[in-house]
Amino acid sequence: MKKYSEMSREELLALKKELDQQYAEVKAQGLSLDMSRGKPGTDQLDLSMGMMEVLANHADLKCETGVDCRNYGVIDGIPEAKRLLGAMSEVDPEHIIIYGNSSLNVMFDTVARSMTHGVMGHTPWCKLDKVKFLCPVPGYDRHFKITEFFGIEMINVPMTPTGPDMDMVEKLVSEDDAIKGIWCVPKYSNPQGITYSKETVERFARLKPAAPDFRIYWDNAYSIHHLYEDNQDFLVEILGECAKAGNADIVYKFTSTSKVSFPGSGIAAVAASKANLEDFRKYMQIQTIGHDKLNQLRHVRFFKDLDGLHAHMRKHAELLRPKFEMVVDTLEKELGGLGIGEWTKPHGGYFISFEAMDGCAKAVVAKAKEAGVVMTGAGATYPYGKDPKDSNIRIAPTYPTLEELEKATEIFVLCVKLTSVEKLLAE
Ligand SMILES: Cc1ncc(COP(=O)(O)O)c(C=O)c1O
Repeated sequence: MKKYSEMSREELLALKKELDQQYAEVKAQGLSLDMSRGKPGTDQLDLSMGMMEVLANHADLKCETGVDCRNYGVIDGIPEAKRLLGAMSEVDPEHIIIYGNSSLNVMFDTVARSMTHGVMGHTPWCKLDKVKFLCPVPGYDRHFKITEFFGIEMINVPMTPTGPDMDMVEKLVSEDDAIKGIWCVPKYSNPQGITYSKETVERFARLKPAAPDFRIYWDNAYSIHHLYEDNQDFLVEILGECAKAGNADIVYKFTSTSKVSFPGSGIAAVAASKANLEDFRKYMQIQTIGHDKLNQLRHVRFFKDLDGLHAHMRKHAELLRPKFEMVVDTLEKELGGLGIGEWTKPHGGYFISFEAMDGCAKAVVAKAKEAGVVMTGAGATYPYGKDPKDSNIRIAPTYPTLEELEKATEIFVLCVKLTSVEKLLAE
C-alpha cells in the first residue's frame, strides 16, 4: 500500500476520480446513519429490563434500615446503594453520596456551588478575577461546556498514552492559583479509551497546587466497562492514593450507572473525603429533600453486588466487542499504511478516537454528513469547540446496529480518503 503523501499528482488525481465516483454512489443511496453520541444500543438497554420487575407486585419497598423508599427521607442514599456504588467506585460506603440520575448534573452543580459559595470555605470563584481549568485534550465535550458556561478559562493539556501530560499539569497547577480544577476521564477515556497509568495517578495524588481549593474532577464514567475478559485496563484507586499522600481533599470522584443500566435513569454517585462530602451535603440539603430511592432500590435488587455488576457488564461487552472490532478492523484494512490517519484501539469504554491529517477533521465530518452519516462534530473534543489542528474525530460505535455501523464505517473511511487526497492536491 502506497502512502498518499508519496503519490504523484497524476496518481492522486486518478485516485480522486475513483473516490469521487464511490462517494456519488453512496450519496445516491440517501442513507441516514448516526455514529455521533455514546449511547447504548437497544439490545444493551434490553439487558436491564429485569429491573422493571424487581419492584413490581407490591414488593417490599423498604430499604435495609426499614425506611419506606416510597417516601421522603435519607438524603444521601440508602445504605445498600452506597455499598453497591462504593464497590463499583472501590471506596468505603462512608465516602459515598448517592445522587439522582446523572453524574454530569452533579459535576455541573459542583462547579456552580464553587462559583457561588466557594470550596470548603474558600472565596467563591465568582468573586475572583480569573478562574481556570485544565482540560486534557481530546476530551469529553460536555465537561468543556460546563466550564465554558461559567466563563472559566480552559487550558488544553495534551493527552499521552499514559494520561495527561503530567509535567505540564504539575507545573501549571503549582504556579497558578487561578487554576481551580482539571477534568479527567481516567479509565477508558472519552474519546481515546486511554487509562491513566499508575505513575500518572500517583502524580495526581501528590500534586501541590498553588490554589488550596484546587480539585481533580475524576469522572470515572467507564470504570467497569471492559470489552474483554482477559485484556482489561487497570486504574489505581485515587482516593486512597491521595489520602496516602496527605492530600485527601484534592479529588472528587464521580460515577454513575448510566451505561450499566439506563442512561438518564441510572444512579449517580460522588466519592470524596469526608470534609469534601460535608461541603456537598450542605448544598444538597437546600437543593432537595432527597433523590429517587425507588430507583436506588431497584438497582440494588437487580444487580445485588459487585459480582452482579461485573456479570452484567460482560453481557454488554458481548454486544459491544463485535462493533468495536469491526470498526478497528475496517480502519486497519482500509487506511492502514496510507499515512492519512491514526486511531486508538481501546479495551473498554464507549469510543474510538481518530486522528485525521491536520486540517481535515471538519471536512471529513462534513462529507460524512452529506453522505448521510452523522458523526460527533469536529472540534467537539476540544474546549470552545476549537481543535487547533482540526484533526480529531470521535467515533461512537455503540448505538447503531452492526449492519448500520459497517455501512457507516465504510462511508467514514471513504470520506477520510477523499478529504486527504483533496488536501494533498491543494498543497
Ligand atoms: C466521561 C463521561 N462522563 C459522564 C457522562 C454522562 O454521565 P451521566 O449520564 O451520569 O450524566 C458521559 C456520557 O457520555 C461520559 O462520557
